[in-house]
Amino acid sequence: MISGRYFLKPFIALIKIMILMKLGGSIITDKEKPLTANRNSIRKIASSLKNVKEPIAIIHGGGSFGHYWSVKYDMHTKPQRYSVKGVSVVKNSMVELNKIVLESFLESGLKPYCLPPSDFMIGDKPLINKVKEIPKIAKTGLTPISYGDAMWFGKNKFYILSGDRIMGILCKLLRPRLAIFITNVDGVYSDMKEKRLLREITKEKPITSEVAMDVTGGMSRKIKEAFSISKGGTDVFFVNGNIPKRITDAINDKGFEGTIFRG
Ligand code: IPE
Repeated sequence: MISGRYFLKPFIALIKIMILMKLGGSIITDKEKPLTANRNSIRKIASSLKNVKEPIAIIHGGGSFGHYWSVKYDMHTKPQRYSVKGVSVVKNSMVELNKIVLESFLESGLKPYCLPPSDFMIGDKPLINKVKEIPKIAKTGLTPISYGDAMWFGKNKFYILSGDRIMGILCKLLRPRLAIFITNVDGVYSDMKEKRLLREITKEKPITSEVAMDVTGGMSRKIKEAFSISKGGTDVFFVNGNIPKRITDAINDKGFEGTIFRG
């Protein structure tokens, strides 16, 4: 028997009209050099998005800004009583990186709309009504831009909210047409030594746990989010941001270079 969800899928695809995109810290910063943004890459990606007609919201990571300081101050995703100096420094560095991203988008002809995660999160829970505003803002022609950050949890505890986690939270509530993770590599590899690119990961052909374990720490967190997003019915792409045409080709269904997690 054909399930209702299967039957309705083409119609659901027609009404889903939003793209959520994560710009990884590996592509927007120079991970080898502390506090160094990769302005060239940000501008190239932003310019390529100028011709996309569909509403887009962007989340960016911390790279050599927020990540650098969160490692220095030993801060993690687990809510704890971290050094308040660390919280302050991580937050400031993310505002600084966000400013660079906002300026680059504006210079590239887009209309970025700054959206710190504290605007739509309380503790570690999303504020549903605020999250539901994001597609409305994106439909006006603005591009909402949020980012991973150090967050207040309550009871004097703070935590690091990663951009990848924000992708998971927003996709669950907004069910966008596509979720795209932009990094500085071609996609998800079966193992880093051989560099065999995994092109498609489906429910029928899932990634094995050995493969996932082979991938570096940062990538395994993205893979976990990608799995849960695709389970919610959204296709998830991993694309190399050094070749921005691959991003627009993925959006416009013009052949795809990277890894797809089928929704
Ligand atoms: C990092 O977000 C946020 C902070 C450390 C403040 P992400 O974990 O999503 O960043 P990248 O993309 O891996 O650098």
